[in-house]
Amino acid sequence: MNCKIVTIPGDGIGPEIVREACKVLDRVGEVYGHTFEYQEILMGGCSIDAYGVPLTDEALETARQSDAVLLGAVGGNVGNSRWYDVAPNLRPEAGLLAIRKGLNLFANIRPAYLYSELAEACPLKKEIIGNGFDMVIMRELTGGLYFGERHTEEVDGVLQATDTLTYNENEIRRIAIKAFDIAMKRRKHVISVDKANVLDSSRLWRKVVEEVAKDYPEVKLEHMLVDNCAMPLVMNPGQFDVVLTENMFGDILSDEASMITGSIGMLSSASLNESKFGMYEPSHGSAPDIAGLGIANPIATILSAAMMLRYSFDLDREADAVEAAVQAVLTEGYRTVDIMAEGCRKVGTAQMGDLIVKHIQ
Ligand code: IPM
Ligand code: MG
Repeated sequence: MNCKIVTIPGDGIGPEIVREACKVLDRVGEVYGHTFEYQEILMGGCSIDAYGVPLTDEALETARQSDAVLLGAVGGNVGNSRWYDVAPNLRPEAGLLAIRKGLNLFANIRPAYLYSELAEACPLKKEIIGNGFDMVIMRELTGGLYFGERHTEEVDGVLQATDTLTYNENEIRRIAIKAFDIAMKRRKHVISVDKANVLDSSRLWRKVVEEVAKDYPEVKLEHMLVDNCAMPLVMNPGQFDVVLTENMFGDILSDEASMITGSIGMLSSASLNESKFGMYEPSHGSAPDIAGLGIANPIATILSAAMMLRYSFDLDREADAVEAAVQAVLTEGYRTVDIMAEGCRKVGTAQMGDLIVKHIQ
């Protein structure tokens, strides 16, 4: 197979972790006979520096022409950077939102899985961890508060800011279908998270999700209010299989879920459109405080590349091999600093990449 991948190293630790993911992809290509061609585009702060905007039309078009996109991270220290003294639509994160919307990447899949080797790094008590957990957060990514009309105005001498949360039934239906499809391949349990006791958009969400559920009689559907969901996520994470939720709630809950896996440096993600096209990125940010030090954990990006193999290229065997290699390296006791534990061996970003590469044969 010959795949055209657009890479977006981005800002902060982005270039370091994307480099390791490409090394792993190249190894997969060597072993399984595929060619991965890369074309790099700028997005985020680096694009602002070069072109004055966080994402150019040309860059977006290049991404659109590719088979899949691999992203590191964008952004810097808010309030402490030339990238943030500009209008909101010119800041680094605006590039990320623009590419999500521009490529119609409405389905964001964020798996949160506890490797038994990392149980020590999990902040939860042993009795809560139990046999671990393995959930997928299915976050709607191109609607809701992130993309609603917003403005700040002065009303009678008082500053007032407005953000609007809108969903139509089609937007809800298509993400619900993705969630149920994934649930069918897992433990067949969807928990749909909303705030239906307050929000109209959530009441519509619940109604449409229930309609979709009728087509999946084998899947158990439960509804949970978002505040109510935040609690069992840390009290009984093992009960979650597929969590289906809107954009903002998914943003918050996926960070909560990532923390209990031991480190946000472990969490991969895929953002897909209607077809097989997707953008793959770690769930974490650009970590400007450790950029360039060679200590960032590349595993989330490497696991995101595995998701690319699985979801965009249908290369399940290859994706399994990457995931198994990550598992093997953890079992051998190698750790980056964020997941370091007593008795383990501390390695940097590139060494971690090399170790994973070595296990793909
Ligand atoms: C994420 C991030 C982004 C989001 C930011 C950087 C705009 O937090 O991917 O979760 O809120 O979606
Ligand atoms: Mg987030």
